[in-house]
Amino acid sequence: MTSLPDYNFQPATIKFLEQSPKKLFINNEWVEGNSGETFATRNPASGAVLAEVTLANAADVDAAVAAAQAAFPGWSQTIAAERGERLFKLAALIDEHADVLAELETLDNGKPIRVARRGDLPYVTKHLRYQAGWADKIEGSTVPVTFPDQLVYTRREPLGVVGAIIPWNFPLLMAIWKLGPALAAGNTLILKPAEQTPLTALYLADLVREAGFPPGVVNILTGPGLPTGAAMAAHPHIAKIAFTGSTSTGARIMEAAAKSNLKRVSLELGGKSPNVVFADADLSAAIRGAQWAVFSTAGQECVAGTRLFVERKVFNEVLEGLTANVEKMVVDHGFAEKVHVGPLISAEQLERVAGYITEGQQAGAEIVTGGQGLSAELKGGYFLKPTVFSYQDDSLRLVQEEIFGPVAAVTAFDDEDELIARSNATQYGLAAGVWTRDVGKAHRYAHAVQAGTVWINGYGMIDPAAPFGGYKMSGFGREMGKEAIDLYTQVKTVWVSTQ
Ligand code: NAI
Ligand code: MG
Repeated sequence: MTSLPDYNFQPATIKFLEQSPKKLFINNEWVEGNSGETFATRNPASGAVLAEVTLANAADVDAAVAAAQAAFPGWSQTIAAERGERLFKLAALIDEHADVLAELETLDNGKPIRVARRGDLPYVTKHLRYQAGWADKIEGSTVPVTFPDQLVYTRREPLGVVGAIIPWNFPLLMAIWKLGPALAAGNTLILKPAEQTPLTALYLADLVREAGFPPGVVNILTGPGLPTGAAMAAHPHIAKIAFTGSTSTGARIMEAAAKSNLKRVSLELGGKSPNVVFADADLSAAIRGAQWAVFSTAGQECVAGTRLFVERKVFNEVLEGLTANVEKMVVDHGFAEKVHVGPLISAEQLERVAGYITEGQQAGAEIVTGGQGLSAELKGGYFLKPTVFSYQDDSLRLVQEEIFGPVAAVTAFDDEDELIARSNATQYGLAAGVWTRDVGKAHRYAHAVQAGTVWINGYGMIDPAAPFGGYKMSGFGREMGKEAIDLYTQVKTVWVSTQ
Protein backbone atom coordinates (compact mmCIF):
# COMPACT_ATOMS: atom_id res chain seq x y z
CA MET A 1 0.00 0.00 0.00
CA THR A 2 1.28 3.45 -0.81
CA SER A 3 0.72 6.89 0.64
CA LEU A 4 -2.82 8.00 1.43
CA PRO A 5 -4.10 11.56 1.37
CA ASP A 6 -4.05 13.57 4.57
CA TYR A 7 -7.40 12.59 6.04
CA ASN A 8 -8.72 11.00 9.20
CA PHE A 9 -9.57 7.58 7.73
CA GLN A 10 -11.57 4.91 9.52
CA PRO A 11 -9.21 2.23 10.89
CA ALA A 12 -11.19 -0.36 8.89
CA THR A 13 -10.40 1.48 5.65
CA ILE A 14 -6.65 1.32 6.34
CA LYS A 15 -6.88 -2.31 7.41
CA PHE A 16 -8.76 -3.25 4.27
CA LEU A 17 -6.18 -1.57 2.03
CA GLU A 18 -3.35 -3.37 3.82
CA GLN A 19 -4.76 -6.75 2.81
CA SER A 20 -3.15 -6.85 -0.60
CA PRO A 21 -3.23 -8.53 -3.05
CA LYS A 22 -6.98 -8.87 -2.96
CA LYS A 23 -8.34 -12.31 -3.80
CA LEU A 24 -11.42 -13.50 -5.69
CA PHE A 25 -14.70 -14.27 -3.90
CA ILE A 26 -16.17 -17.61 -4.98
CA ASN A 27 -18.53 -19.82 -2.94
CA ASN A 28 -18.32 -17.38 0.01
CA GLU A 29 -14.57 -17.89 0.18
CA TRP A 30 -11.52 -15.88 -0.77
CA VAL A 31 -9.55 -17.79 -3.39
CA GLU A 32 -6.22 -17.17 -5.11
CA GLY A 33 -7.34 -17.54 -8.69
CA ASN A 34 -5.64 -19.41 -11.53
CA SER A 35 -3.83 -16.71 -13.48
CA GLY A 36 -1.10 -15.94 -10.97
CA GLU A 37 -1.50 -12.32 -12.09
CA THR A 38 -2.58 -9.21 -10.26
CA PHE A 39 -3.24 -5.65 -11.36
CA ALA A 40 -3.11 -2.33 -9.53
CA THR A 41 -6.03 -0.12 -8.67
CA ARG A 42 -5.05 3.52 -8.29
CA ASN A 43 -6.17 6.66 -6.58
CA PRO A 44 -7.00 8.95 -9.51
CA ALA A 45 -6.26 12.06 -7.43
CA SER A 46 -2.57 11.14 -7.19
CA GLY A 47 -1.94 8.14 -9.41
CA ALA A 48 -0.78 6.20 -6.31
CA VAL A 49 -1.45 2.46 -6.18
CA LEU A 50 -4.10 1.63 -3.57
CA ALA A 51 -3.99 -2.15 -3.77
CA GLU A 52 -3.07 -5.06 -5.99
CA VAL A 53 -6.06 -7.09 -7.11
CA THR A 54 -6.25 -10.60 -8.55
CA LEU A 55 -6.82 -10.85 -12.27
CA ALA A 56 -9.50 -13.48 -12.87
CA ASN A 57 -8.99 -15.55 -16.01
CA ALA A 58 -11.31 -17.89 -17.93
CA ALA A 59 -10.68 -20.75 -15.47
CA ASP A 60 -11.76 -18.49 -12.61
CA VAL A 61 -14.91 -17.58 -14.52
CA ASP A 62 -15.55 -21.33 -14.93
CA ALA A 63 -15.11 -21.84 -11.19
CA ALA A 64 -17.45 -18.98 -10.32
CA VAL A 65 -20.06 -20.22 -12.81
CA ALA A 66 -19.87 -23.72 -11.32
CA ALA A 67 -20.41 -22.28 -7.84
CA ALA A 68 -23.30 -20.10 -8.99
CA GLN A 69 -24.89 -23.00 -10.89
CA ALA A 70 -24.66 -25.26 -7.85
CA ALA A 71 -26.27 -22.58 -5.69
CA PHE A 72 -29.09 -21.85 -8.12
CA PRO A 73 -31.59 -24.66 -7.30
CA GLY A 74 -31.45 -23.89 -3.58
CA TRP A 75 -31.58 -20.13 -3.91
CA SER A 76 -34.28 -20.01 -6.57
CA GLN A 77 -36.48 -22.27 -4.44
CA THR A 78 -35.88 -20.40 -1.21
CA ILE A 79 -39.11 -18.84 0.07
CA ALA A 80 -39.25 -15.45 -1.66
CA ALA A 81 -39.69 -13.51 1.59
CA GLU A 82 -36.53 -15.14 2.93
CA ARG A 83 -34.59 -13.96 -0.13
CA GLY A 84 -35.90 -10.49 0.62
CA GLU A 85 -34.78 -10.80 4.25
CA ARG A 86 -31.20 -11.56 3.20
CA LEU A 87 -31.20 -8.46 0.99
CA PHE A 88 -32.62 -6.29 3.80
CA LYS A 89 -29.89 -7.66 6.08
CA LEU A 90 -27.25 -6.78 3.49
CA ALA A 91 -28.66 -3.23 3.30
CA ALA A 92 -28.40 -2.93 7.11
CA LEU A 93 -24.77 -4.10 7.00
CA ILE A 94 -23.95 -1.63 4.23
CA ASP A 95 -25.43 1.15 6.39
CA GLU A 96 -23.23 0.01 9.29
CA HIS A 97 -20.13 0.10 7.10
CA ALA A 98 -21.12 3.20 5.13
CA ASP A 99 -18.24 5.39 6.31
CA VAL A 100 -15.63 2.85 5.25
CA LEU A 101 -17.36 2.17 1.94
CA ALA A 102 -17.60 5.91 1.20
CA GLU A 103 -13.89 6.37 1.92
CA LEU A 104 -12.97 3.44 -0.32
CA GLU A 105 -15.21 4.82 -3.08
CA THR A 106 -13.51 8.22 -2.93
CA LEU A 107 -10.04 6.70 -2.83
CA ASP A 108 -10.68 4.37 -5.76
CA ASN A 109 -12.88 6.58 -7.95
CA GLY A 110 -11.85 10.11 -6.93
CA LYS A 111 -15.32 11.56 -6.31
CA PRO A 112 -15.74 14.07 -3.45
CA ILE A 113 -16.16 12.28 -0.10
CA ARG A 114 -19.25 14.42 0.61
CA VAL A 115 -20.85 12.98 -2.55
CA ALA A 116 -19.83 9.41 -1.72
CA ARG A 117 -21.18 9.78 1.80
CA ARG A 118 -24.37 11.73 1.12
CA GLY A 119 -25.06 10.56 -2.40
CA ASP A 120 -23.72 7.15 -3.36
CA LEU A 121 -24.05 5.31 -0.04
CA PRO A 122 -27.60 6.36 0.91
CA TYR A 123 -28.65 5.57 -2.66
CA VAL A 124 -27.06 2.15 -2.47
CA THR A 125 -29.18 1.09 0.48
CA LYS A 126 -32.32 2.87 -0.74
CA HIS A 127 -32.12 0.94 -4.00
CA LEU A 128 -31.25 -2.32 -2.30
CA ARG A 129 -34.21 -2.06 0.09
CA TYR A 130 -36.57 -1.25 -2.76
CA GLN A 131 -35.44 -4.35 -4.66
CA ALA A 132 -35.54 -6.48 -1.49
CA GLY A 133 -39.18 -5.49 -1.21
CA TRP A 134 -39.87 -6.96 -4.65
CA ALA A 135 -38.69 -10.44 -3.71
CA ASP A 136 -42.11 -11.61 -2.47
CA LYS A 137 -44.16 -9.57 -4.94
CA ILE A 138 -43.08 -11.16 -8.21
CA GLU A 139 -46.40 -12.52 -9.41
CA GLY A 140 -47.72 -14.34 -12.43
CA SER A 141 -51.26 -14.04 -13.76
CA THR A 142 -54.19 -16.21 -14.79
CA VAL A 143 -54.94 -16.00 -18.48
CA PRO A 144 -58.47 -15.98 -20.02
CA VAL A 145 -57.83 -18.35 -22.97
CA THR A 146 -60.39 -19.41 -25.63
CA PHE A 147 -60.48 -23.05 -24.48
CA PRO A 148 -63.34 -23.85 -22.10
CA ASP A 149 -61.66 -26.46 -19.89
CA GLN A 150 -58.23 -25.06 -19.37
CA LEU A 151 -56.81 -23.11 -16.47
CA VAL A 152 -53.83 -21.14 -17.76
CA TYR A 153 -51.48 -19.28 -15.50
CA THR A 154 -48.01 -17.77 -15.72
CA ARG A 155 -45.03 -17.85 -13.42
CA ARG A 156 -42.11 -15.44 -13.44
CA GLU A 157 -39.08 -17.66 -12.98
CA PRO A 158 -35.43 -16.67 -12.53
CA LEU A 159 -33.01 -17.14 -15.42
CA GLY A 160 -30.13 -18.92 -13.66
CA VAL A 161 -26.62 -17.52 -13.37
CA VAL A 162 -26.48 -13.78 -14.05
CA GLY A 163 -23.23 -12.01 -14.90
CA ALA A 164 -23.07 -8.31 -13.97
CA ILE A 165 -20.39 -6.23 -15.67
CA ILE A 166 -20.28 -2.70 -14.35
CA PRO A 167 -18.39 0.58 -14.80
CA TRP A 168 -16.32 2.75 -12.49
CA ASN A 169 -18.37 5.94 -12.14
CA PHE A 170 -20.72 4.69 -9.39
CA PRO A 171 -18.99 1.45 -8.42
CA LEU A 172 -21.09 0.27 -5.49
CA LEU A 173 -24.37 1.73 -6.72
CA MET A 174 -24.01 -0.02 -10.10
CA ALA A 175 -23.21 -3.27 -8.28
CA ILE A 176 -26.38 -2.97 -6.22
CA TRP A 177 -28.59 -1.96 -9.17
CA LYS A 178 -27.81 -5.38 -10.58
CA LEU A 179 -27.36 -7.49 -7.46
CA GLY A 180 -30.68 -6.35 -5.95
CA PRO A 181 -33.15 -7.42 -8.64
CA ALA A 182 -31.05 -10.42 -9.74
CA LEU A 183 -31.09 -11.97 -6.27
CA ALA A 184 -34.61 -10.85 -5.37
CA ALA A 185 -35.87 -12.77 -8.41
CA GLY A 186 -33.96 -15.92 -7.40
CA ASN A 187 -30.94 -15.82 -9.74
CA THR A 188 -27.38 -16.36 -8.61
CA LEU A 189 -24.73 -13.81 -9.50
CA ILE A 190 -21.22 -13.24 -10.74
CA LEU A 191 -20.28 -9.61 -10.30
CA LYS A 192 -17.34 -8.08 -12.13
CA PRO A 193 -16.56 -4.55 -10.98
CA ALA A 194 -14.61 -2.25 -13.29
CA GLU A 195 -10.85 -2.76 -13.13
CA GLN A 196 -10.39 0.90 -12.12
CA THR A 197 -12.65 0.59 -9.04
CA PRO A 198 -12.78 -2.94 -7.59
CA LEU A 199 -12.47 -2.03 -3.90
CA THR A 200 -16.04 -1.47 -2.71
CA ALA A 201 -17.27 -4.62 -4.47
CA LEU A 202 -14.56 -6.61 -2.71
CA TYR A 203 -15.45 -5.03 0.63
CA LEU A 204 -19.09 -5.95 -0.07
CA ALA A 205 -18.14 -9.63 -0.33
CA ASP A 206 -17.62 -10.03 3.41
CA LEU A 207 -20.94 -8.30 4.06
CA VAL A 208 -22.63 -10.72 1.65
CA ARG A 209 -21.30 -13.63 3.66
CA GLU A 210 -22.28 -11.99 6.95
CA ALA A 211 -25.80 -11.34 5.64
CA GLY A 212 -26.27 -15.11 5.33
CA PHE A 213 -26.40 -15.67 1.59
CA PRO A 214 -25.59 -19.32 0.90
CA PRO A 215 -22.22 -20.06 -0.77
CA GLY A 216 -22.24 -19.49 -4.54
CA VAL A 217 -25.21 -17.09 -4.58
CA VAL A 218 -22.87 -14.10 -4.98
CA ASN A 219 -19.42 -14.44 -6.54
CA ILE A 220 -17.11 -11.51 -7.21
CA LEU A 221 -14.39 -11.61 -9.86
CA THR A 222 -11.95 -8.81 -10.52
CA GLY A 223 -10.23 -8.17 -13.81
CA PRO A 224 -10.35 -6.09 -16.98
CA GLY A 225 -12.66 -6.53 -19.96
CA LEU A 226 -10.10 -8.85 -21.47
CA PRO A 227 -9.93 -11.57 -20.33
CA THR A 228 -12.42 -11.47 -17.44
CA GLY A 229 -15.47 -9.65 -18.85
CA ALA A 230 -15.13 -11.28 -22.25
CA ALA A 231 -14.98 -14.77 -20.68
CA MET A 232 -18.23 -14.01 -18.86
CA ALA A 233 -19.95 -12.70 -22.00
CA ALA A 234 -18.93 -15.84 -23.92
CA HIS A 235 -19.71 -18.36 -21.18
CA PRO A 236 -22.22 -21.02 -22.21
CA HIS A 237 -23.66 -21.38 -18.69
CA ILE A 238 -24.24 -17.75 -17.88
CA ALA A 239 -27.91 -17.08 -18.64
CA LYS A 240 -27.77 -13.32 -18.76
CA ILE A 241 -25.34 -10.44 -18.78
CA ALA A 242 -26.45 -7.18 -17.18
CA PHE A 243 -24.09 -4.51 -18.43
CA THR A 244 -23.49 -0.80 -17.88
CA GLY A 245 -20.72 0.91 -19.79
CA SER A 246 -19.74 2.08 -23.25
CA THR A 247 -21.78 1.45 -26.37
CA SER A 248 -18.87 -0.27 -28.11
CA THR A 249 -18.34 -2.75 -25.27
CA GLY A 250 -22.12 -3.31 -25.11
CA ALA A 251 -22.05 -4.29 -28.78
CA ARG A 252 -19.18 -6.70 -28.14
CA ILE A 253 -21.11 -8.33 -25.31
CA MET A 254 -24.17 -8.80 -27.54
CA GLU A 255 -21.99 -10.39 -30.17
CA ALA A 256 -20.45 -12.79 -27.65
CA ALA A 257 -23.93 -13.61 -26.34
CA ALA A 258 -25.13 -14.39 -29.86
CA LYS A 259 -22.15 -16.63 -30.55
CA SER A 260 -22.29 -18.58 -27.27
CA ASN A 261 -25.71 -19.49 -25.90
CA LEU A 262 -28.05 -16.60 -26.84
CA LYS A 263 -27.81 -15.42 -23.26
CA ARG A 264 -30.08 -12.52 -22.35
CA VAL A 265 -28.42 -9.14 -22.42
CA SER A 266 -29.49 -5.85 -20.90
CA LEU A 267 -27.44 -2.82 -21.79
CA GLU A 268 -27.29 0.58 -20.14
CA LEU A 269 -24.86 2.44 -22.38
CA GLY A 270 -23.57 5.88 -23.19
CA GLY A 271 -25.38 9.12 -23.76
CA LYS A 272 -25.10 12.59 -25.26
CA SER A 273 -28.12 14.05 -23.59
CA PRO A 274 -29.73 17.34 -24.64
CA ASN A 275 -30.71 19.83 -21.95
CA VAL A 276 -32.94 22.65 -23.19
CA VAL A 277 -33.48 26.15 -21.79
CA PHE A 278 -36.43 28.07 -23.22
CA ALA A 279 -36.53 31.86 -22.80
CA ASP A 280 -39.57 31.61 -20.51
CA ALA A 281 -37.79 29.36 -17.98
CA ASP A 282 -36.76 30.33 -14.46
CA LEU A 283 -33.32 31.15 -15.78
CA SER A 284 -31.37 31.06 -12.55
CA ALA A 285 -32.75 27.58 -11.74
CA ALA A 286 -32.06 26.47 -15.32
CA ILE A 287 -28.49 27.76 -15.25
CA ARG A 288 -27.76 25.99 -11.98
CA GLY A 289 -29.48 22.86 -13.26
CA ALA A 290 -27.49 22.96 -16.48
CA GLN A 291 -24.25 23.38 -14.56
CA TRP A 292 -24.77 20.27 -12.39
CA ALA A 293 -26.25 18.32 -15.29
CA VAL A 294 -22.79 18.38 -16.87
CA PHE A 295 -20.26 18.75 -14.11
CA SER A 296 -21.34 16.43 -11.31
CA THR A 297 -19.05 13.39 -11.06
CA ALA A 298 -16.64 15.47 -13.19
CA GLY A 299 -18.90 14.82 -16.16
CA GLN A 300 -18.45 11.06 -15.88
CA GLU A 301 -22.14 10.23 -15.83
CA CYS A 302 -24.10 8.42 -18.50
CA VAL A 303 -26.98 10.93 -18.18
CA ALA A 304 -24.76 14.04 -18.30
CA GLY A 305 -26.61 16.87 -20.07
CA THR A 306 -23.65 17.64 -22.29
CA ARG A 307 -25.52 19.35 -25.14
CA LEU A 308 -27.09 22.52 -23.80
CA PHE A 309 -29.64 24.07 -26.17
CA VAL A 310 -30.56 27.67 -25.28
CA GLU A 311 -33.29 29.71 -26.98
CA ARG A 312 -31.48 32.43 -28.91
CA LYS A 313 -32.97 35.45 -27.16
CA VAL A 314 -31.55 34.33 -23.78
CA PHE A 315 -28.42 32.65 -25.16
CA ASN A 316 -25.92 35.27 -23.98
CA GLU A 317 -27.54 35.59 -20.56
CA VAL A 318 -27.52 31.83 -19.98
CA LEU A 319 -24.01 31.31 -21.31
CA GLU A 320 -22.67 34.14 -19.14
CA GLY A 321 -24.49 32.83 -16.07
CA LEU A 322 -23.24 29.30 -16.66
CA THR A 323 -19.69 30.47 -17.25
CA ALA A 324 -19.68 32.55 -14.06
CA ASN A 325 -20.90 29.54 -12.04
CA VAL A 326 -18.45 27.15 -13.66
CA GLU A 327 -15.51 29.44 -12.98
CA LYS A 328 -16.35 29.28 -9.26
CA MET A 329 -16.21 25.47 -9.21
CA VAL A 330 -13.30 24.15 -7.17
CA VAL A 331 -11.25 21.38 -8.75
CA ASP A 332 -9.44 19.31 -6.14
CA HIS A 333 -8.98 15.84 -4.70
CA GLY A 334 -12.01 14.18 -3.14
CA PHE A 335 -10.93 14.60 0.49
CA ALA A 336 -10.26 18.35 0.18
CA GLU A 337 -12.24 20.73 2.46
CA LYS A 338 -13.99 22.26 -0.51
CA VAL A 339 -14.28 20.46 -3.83
CA HIS A 340 -16.85 20.41 -6.62
CA VAL A 341 -14.99 18.60 -9.36
CA GLY A 342 -12.69 15.67 -8.60
CA PRO A 343 -10.24 13.96 -10.92
CA LEU A 344 -11.12 11.86 -13.95
CA ILE A 345 -10.87 8.13 -13.42
CA SER A 346 -7.56 7.43 -15.17
CA ALA A 347 -4.67 8.81 -17.17
CA GLU A 348 -6.24 7.32 -20.33
CA GLN A 349 -9.56 9.02 -19.65
CA LEU A 350 -7.80 12.35 -19.04
CA GLU A 351 -6.00 11.97 -22.35
CA ARG A 352 -9.22 11.06 -24.19
CA VAL A 353 -11.13 14.03 -22.82
CA ALA A 354 -8.24 16.46 -23.41
CA GLY A 355 -8.13 15.13 -26.98
CA TYR A 356 -11.79 16.07 -27.52
CA ILE A 357 -11.08 19.58 -26.23
CA THR A 358 -8.12 20.13 -28.55
CA GLU A 359 -9.96 18.70 -31.52
CA GLY A 360 -13.12 20.69 -30.79
CA GLN A 361 -11.12 23.90 -30.76
CA GLN A 362 -9.39 23.03 -34.02
CA ALA A 363 -12.73 22.18 -35.61
CA GLY A 364 -14.10 25.63 -34.85
CA ALA A 365 -15.96 25.36 -31.55
CA GLU A 366 -15.15 28.23 -29.20
CA ILE A 367 -13.86 27.64 -25.66
CA VAL A 368 -15.74 30.00 -23.34
CA THR A 369 -14.01 28.83 -20.18
CA GLY A 370 -11.66 26.05 -19.06
CA GLY A 371 -9.61 23.99 -21.45
CA GLN A 372 -6.25 24.28 -19.75
CA GLY A 373 -4.70 25.99 -16.78
CA LEU A 374 -4.81 23.84 -13.65
CA SER A 375 -2.87 24.75 -10.53
CA ALA A 376 0.46 22.96 -10.13
CA GLU A 377 -0.57 21.10 -6.95
CA LEU A 378 -3.01 18.98 -8.93
CA LYS A 379 -0.48 17.82 -11.48
CA GLY A 380 -0.02 14.31 -10.01
CA GLY A 381 -3.67 13.38 -10.51
CA TYR A 382 -5.95 13.14 -13.51
CA PHE A 383 -7.59 16.56 -13.16
CA LEU A 384 -9.18 18.74 -15.79
CA LYS A 385 -10.74 22.18 -15.53
CA PRO A 386 -14.49 22.33 -16.19
CA THR A 387 -14.78 23.45 -19.78
CA VAL A 388 -17.58 25.15 -21.68
CA PHE A 389 -17.74 25.25 -25.48
CA SER A 390 -20.03 27.36 -27.62
CA TYR A 391 -20.86 25.84 -31.04
CA GLN A 392 -23.32 25.77 -33.94
CA ASP A 393 -22.20 22.78 -36.02
CA ASP A 394 -23.98 19.63 -34.78
CA SER A 395 -21.67 17.37 -36.75
CA LEU A 396 -18.62 18.09 -34.56
CA ARG A 397 -17.26 15.03 -32.74
CA LEU A 398 -17.45 17.08 -29.57
CA VAL A 399 -21.22 17.25 -30.09
CA GLN A 400 -21.80 13.72 -31.36
CA GLU A 401 -19.65 11.54 -29.10
CA GLU A 402 -19.83 10.76 -25.42
CA ILE A 403 -16.85 12.55 -23.86
CA PHE A 404 -17.34 11.45 -20.24
CA GLY A 405 -15.51 14.41 -18.77
CA PRO A 406 -16.26 17.93 -17.54
CA VAL A 407 -17.08 19.38 -20.95
CA ALA A 408 -20.30 21.22 -21.86
CA ALA A 409 -21.27 22.18 -25.41
CA VAL A 410 -23.72 25.09 -25.60
CA THR A 411 -25.66 26.14 -28.68
CA ALA A 412 -28.50 28.52 -29.63
CA PHE A 413 -31.81 27.42 -31.21
CA ASP A 414 -34.69 29.41 -32.70
CA ASP A 415 -37.79 27.23 -32.78
CA GLU A 416 -39.25 23.97 -31.53
CA ASP A 417 -39.05 22.03 -34.79
CA GLU A 418 -35.37 22.84 -35.17
CA LEU A 419 -34.80 22.00 -31.50
CA ILE A 420 -36.40 18.58 -31.72
CA ALA A 421 -34.59 17.64 -34.92
CA ARG A 422 -31.24 18.70 -33.48
CA SER A 423 -31.91 17.09 -30.07
CA ASN A 424 -32.52 13.76 -31.77
CA ALA A 425 -29.60 14.00 -34.16
CA THR A 426 -27.23 11.68 -32.30
CA GLN A 427 -26.96 7.90 -32.03
CA TYR A 428 -27.79 8.12 -28.33
CA GLY A 429 -31.07 8.40 -26.45
CA LEU A 430 -30.52 8.04 -22.74
CA ALA A 431 -31.91 11.21 -21.16
CA ALA A 432 -33.02 14.79 -21.78
CA GLY A 433 -33.94 17.88 -19.80
CA VAL A 434 -36.18 20.83 -20.58
CA TRP A 435 -36.62 24.09 -18.68
CA THR A 436 -39.74 26.21 -19.36
CA ARG A 437 -42.76 27.63 -17.53
CA ASP A 438 -45.03 26.63 -20.44
CA VAL A 439 -46.59 23.27 -19.54
CA GLY A 440 -47.67 22.45 -23.10
CA LYS A 441 -44.23 23.17 -24.54
CA ALA A 442 -42.56 21.08 -21.84
CA HIS A 443 -44.70 18.03 -22.57
CA ARG A 444 -44.47 18.48 -26.36
CA TYR A 445 -40.71 18.33 -26.02
CA ALA A 446 -40.79 15.44 -23.53
CA HIS A 447 -42.85 13.38 -25.96
CA ALA A 448 -40.85 14.24 -29.07
CA VAL A 449 -37.36 13.73 -27.72
CA GLN A 450 -35.89 10.25 -28.19
CA ALA A 451 -34.74 9.46 -24.68
CA GLY A 452 -35.50 6.93 -21.95
CA THR A 453 -35.82 9.60 -19.25
CA VAL A 454 -36.90 13.26 -19.51
CA TRP A 455 -36.67 15.78 -16.69
CA ILE A 456 -38.88 18.87 -16.84
CA ASN A 457 -37.50 21.79 -14.79
CA GLY A 458 -34.92 19.55 -13.15
CA TYR A 459 -32.08 17.28 -14.12
CA GLY A 460 -30.50 14.02 -13.07
CA MET A 461 -32.93 12.62 -10.49
CA ILE A 462 -32.87 8.84 -10.24
CA ASP A 463 -35.13 6.81 -7.97
CA PRO A 464 -35.41 3.07 -7.30
CA ALA A 465 -39.10 3.18 -8.23
CA ALA A 466 -38.60 5.03 -11.54
CA PRO A 467 -37.65 2.92 -14.61
CA PHE A 468 -34.37 3.96 -16.20
CA GLY A 469 -32.69 3.01 -19.47
CA GLY A 470 -31.97 3.98 -23.03
CA TYR A 471 -33.43 4.55 -26.47
CA LYS A 472 -31.39 3.92 -29.62
CA MET A 473 -27.71 3.15 -29.00
CA SER A 474 -27.99 4.03 -25.33
CA GLY A 475 -29.13 0.45 -24.87
CA PHE A 476 -32.23 -1.46 -23.87
CA GLY A 477 -33.86 -2.92 -20.80
CA ARG A 478 -35.10 -0.81 -17.90
CA GLU A 479 -33.44 -0.86 -14.52
CA MET A 480 -35.33 0.14 -11.39
CA GLY A 481 -39.03 0.10 -10.83
CA LYS A 482 -41.12 -2.93 -11.59
CA GLU A 483 -39.44 -3.15 -15.00
CA ALA A 484 -36.14 -4.21 -13.41
CA ILE A 485 -37.68 -7.49 -12.32
CA ASP A 486 -38.60 -8.25 -15.95
CA LEU A 487 -34.89 -8.16 -16.80
CA TYR A 488 -34.11 -10.95 -14.37
CA THR A 489 -37.05 -13.28 -14.91
CA GLN A 490 -38.63 -15.28 -17.71
CA VAL A 491 -42.30 -16.12 -18.11
CA LYS A 492 -43.53 -19.70 -17.98
CA THR A 493 -47.09 -20.46 -19.06
CA VAL A 494 -48.76 -23.49 -17.43
CA TRP A 495 -51.86 -25.16 -18.95
CA VAL A 496 -54.04 -27.23 -16.63
CA SER A 497 -56.89 -29.34 -17.97
CA THR A 498 -59.90 -29.02 -15.68
CA GLN A 499 -61.97 -31.65 -17.52
P1 NAI B 1 -16.13 -0.02 -20.90
O1 NAI B 1 -17.52 -0.08 -21.40
O2 NAI B 1 -15.10 -0.67 -21.77
O3 NAI B 1 -16.04 -0.70 -19.46
C1 NAI B 1 -17.15 -0.99 -18.63
C2 NAI B 1 -17.06 -2.40 -18.09
O4 NAI B 1 -17.01 -3.34 -19.16
C3 NAI B 1 -15.81 -2.66 -17.24
O5 NAI B 1 -16.15 -3.53 -16.19
C4 NAI B 1 -14.89 -3.39 -18.22
O6 NAI B 1 -13.94 -4.22 -17.60
C5 NAI B 1 -15.89 -4.21 -19.02
N1 NAI B 1 -15.44 -4.62 -20.34
C6 NAI B 1 -14.60 -3.97 -21.19
N2 NAI B 1 -14.45 -4.66 -22.33
C7 NAI B 1 -15.20 -5.78 -22.22
C8 NAI B 1 -15.46 -6.90 -23.08
N3 NAI B 1 -14.90 -7.00 -24.29
N4 NAI B 1 -16.31 -7.85 -22.66
C9 NAI B 1 -16.89 -7.77 -21.45
N5 NAI B 1 -16.67 -6.75 -20.59
C10 NAI B 1 -15.84 -5.76 -20.96
O7 NAI B 1 -15.78 1.49 -20.63
P2 NAI B 1 -14.38 2.20 -20.26
O8 NAI B 1 -13.30 1.72 -21.15
O9 NAI B 1 -14.17 2.11 -18.80
O10 NAI B 1 -14.71 3.72 -20.61
C11 NAI B 1 -14.71 4.17 -21.94
C12 NAI B 1 -15.88 5.05 -22.24
O11 NAI B 1 -17.09 4.33 -22.05
C13 NAI B 1 -16.05 6.25 -21.35
O12 NAI B 1 -15.28 7.32 -21.76
C14 NAI B 1 -17.52 6.54 -21.50
O13 NAI B 1 -17.74 7.26 -22.68
C15 NAI B 1 -18.13 5.18 -21.63
N6 NAI B 1 -18.68 4.71 -20.35
C16 NAI B 1 -20.02 4.88 -20.12
C17 NAI B 1 -20.56 4.52 -18.91
C18 NAI B 1 -22.01 4.70 -18.62
O14 NAI B 1 -22.40 4.76 -17.46
N7 NAI B 1 -22.85 4.75 -19.61
C19 NAI B 1 -19.73 4.00 -17.81
C20 NAI B 1 -18.35 3.82 -18.17
C21 NAI B 1 -17.87 4.19 -19.39
MG1 MG C 1 -9.05 3.11 -8.70
